[in-house]
Amino acid sequence: MKDNKALAEASKQEEYIRRIKSLNDEYFKETGKHKKMLTVTFGCQMNAHDSEKLNGMLLKMGYVRAQGESDADFIIYNTCCVRENAENKVYGNLGFLKHEKKARPDLKIALCGCMMQQPTVIETIRKKYKHVDIVFGTFNIYKLPELMYRNIESGSPIFDIWKEHELIMEDLPAVRKKSFKASVNIMFGCNNFCTYCIVPYVRGRERSRQPEDIIKEIKELVKNGAKEIMLLGQNVNSYGKGLQEEISFARLLRMVNDIEGVERIRFMTSHPKDLSDELIYAMRDCEKVCKHLHLPFQAGNNDILRKMNRRYTKERYLELTEKIKKEIPDIALTTDIMVGFPGEGEAEIEDTVDIVKKVRFSGAFTFIYSKRTGTPAAEMEQTEECVVKSNFNKVLEAVNPIIREINDEKVGKTYSVLAEEVSGGDKELISGRLEDNSLVHFKAPESVIGNIVDVKITDCKTFYLVGEML
Ligand code: 5AD
Ligand code: SF4
Repeated sequence: MKDNKALAEASKQEEYIRRIKSLNDEYFKETGKHKKMLTVTFGCQMNAHDSEKLNGMLLKMGYVRAQGESDADFIIYNTCCVRENAENKVYGNLGFLKHEKKARPDLKIALCGCMMQQPTVIETIRKKYKHVDIVFGTFNIYKLPELMYRNIESGSPIFDIWKEHELIMEDLPAVRKKSFKASVNIMFGCNNFCTYCIVPYVRGRERSRQPEDIIKEIKELVKNGAKEIMLLGQNVNSYGKGLQEEISFARLLRMVNDIEGVERIRFMTSHPKDLSDELIYAMRDCEKVCKHLHLPFQAGNNDILRKMNRRYTKERYLELTEKIKKEIPDIALTTDIMVGFPGEGEAEIEDTVDIVKKVRFSGAFTFIYSKRTGTPAAEMEQTEECVVKSNFNKVLEAVNPIIREINDEKVGKTYSVLAEEVSGGDKELISGRLEDNSLVHFKAPESVIGNIVDVKITDCKTFYLVGEML
């Protein structure tokens, strides 16, 4: 269901797309060359999917993909600010682009994404990176065509950052990297305000898309060859709250499971405090839902969890994972762990290690806490760096052998695998994913890409498997 405002806005942007397309067509007539664009994405799957939407609009404007920065006419960085090093990378790249822009003044540079929602960043860009042409945020990516056109017309930099969302724009023409594997936003924003996290400040309050819009999008994707659907939201377990007709995530999952042609369903990310029994039962019952759950726990110590505002305890997390394993015995659990939150010392990390050993995750993203200005944790007394480093090693020493043991158990068994791409390391091999999301490399012709095939696991390394197609 779309309101009139969204429809009007969409047709306005279509008009700007047409105008830029005709400029690009003219350029082609004069030079015999297509204008080239490059989208560089930092951060999470949400950003990756936003970039697919940016690419969709740019391709409609007549741009073709560039190989890299040096042959691009239009470069856009879709930024992340969850950790400081992601921001530093963007500043580093922008420094490099200063020279590129000097050599080719027609080059256009745009910035968008989470980092741009922070006023201090905007100040820095205005002062130190004057070669940037267009800046916008997370709430108005659909305005890219208009902002580009305004920049072309005026010749001056365009900054358009909103503090909040106004519209959920449906039907942005996303160009998915892989047609057989598609991400679908089910909700935007986050209301949790974990005290270390910048996301609620830069992505705004939670808002869910209408289930019928989601279903319609998935049906369309299936028509175009999608087999695996990834449902995306910062906190999918609270999907549906606030909609006129409230609906639970579990219910949505069952609806997606009923769509003919969908073969695999995944979702990201779940918050332990909102994970309901209803969802566990839906995962158990829906044959297309991958038996894999990514359930970040961040830290094991109850004081730290309280200071993080996570709203569960170590005991509750352990109970929850026990229950999930009981209902779905072959489930693979993965997680996010953060080390170095203010106050987390040598004693506290033992609880994190304890959770790792008890739950036995088949994969884990481990992060060192990064202080984010504007979050409550930034005001707390920070943990000494040497303690953080030694704690981080303790966590890795617990996590990695378990992953290895879980992978070892797969050797000799056969799994269905979605063949995804030619392996980066060895062009003879195809890389694919098991239902539990583990990575396998196996010998097969390129023609299997996009299909779900049977692969027998023959060997295992810590972070990937080796197999042969049957
Ligand atoms: N520092 C380090 N890691 C963070 N994350 C979120 N905020 C921070 C931060 N300030 C991690 C959490 C989250 C993942 C997406 O990023 O582990 O689950
Ligand atoms: Fe950040 Fe917590 Fe929201 Fe995840 S749930 S995006 S960690 S505030």
